[in-house]
Amino acid sequence: MYQMHDETEADLWEVEALYDLCFAPGRTALSSYRLRDGVPTIGPLCVVLRDADGVLAAAIRFWPAKVGGLDILLLGPIAVHPTRQGEGLGALLITETLERARNLGWARVLLVGDAPYYKRFGFAKLEGVVMPAPTNPDRVLGIELQTGAWNGVAGEVVRAMA
Ligand SMILES: CC(C)(COP(=O)(O)OP(=O)(O)OC[C@H]1O[C@@H](n2cnc3c(N)ncnc32)[C@H](O)[C@@H]1OP(=O)(O)O)[C@@H](O)C(=O)NCCC(=O)NCCS
Repeated sequence: MYQMHDETEADLWEVEALYDLCFAPGRTALSSYRLRDGVPTIGPLCVVLRDADGVLAAAIRFWPAKVGGLDILLLGPIAVHPTRQGEGLGALLITETLERARNLGWARVLLVGDAPYYKRFGFAKLEGVVMPAPTNPDRVLGIELQTGAWNGVAGEVVRAMA
């Protein structure tokens, strides 16, 4: 049994530790982190799952960014503790937060990740949307929360406060 709640300041370092565990060392050197530097997360979309003993099992964060002058949501990082993977926690966090994002009026979401996993939620490769180098274009995926929201949207992804 897992409890879902919005990430608070008290969760911050445990979430960072989970990301450190799940991603390669130096993750914050990734180009996608340059889009996050100095930009606050979207609070209502940063969510953690804890087990009945309060142990952190999974976490997801979102940042705002822009493409072609339009607002986009950057999904990620998302991580599920290695001992809890395959239980559906990743899917739970993604479906819950995408629903929240839709209700908050966000139109389009982008992530950098494995299409074989994210396509089940409706993500597909974004043509012409360019993440800071070096990013494999095949891993730049998007989903529309409003019909047609990615139509004709192209260009470089830039910081929300750029
Ligand atoms: C990727 C991740 C978030 C998925 O969460 P999860 O709770 O383990 O996944 P779920 O239980 O929702 O889904 C499990 C299914 O996804 C599949 N899957 C998991 N990761 C996958 C990947 N990278 N590529 C393709 N399929 C994947 C599993 O094989 C399983 O398939 P099945 O439903 O056919 O059995 C999690 O494994 C994780 O934290 N991995 C390490 C960090 C990471 O890679 N984060 C994503 C960066 S973009």
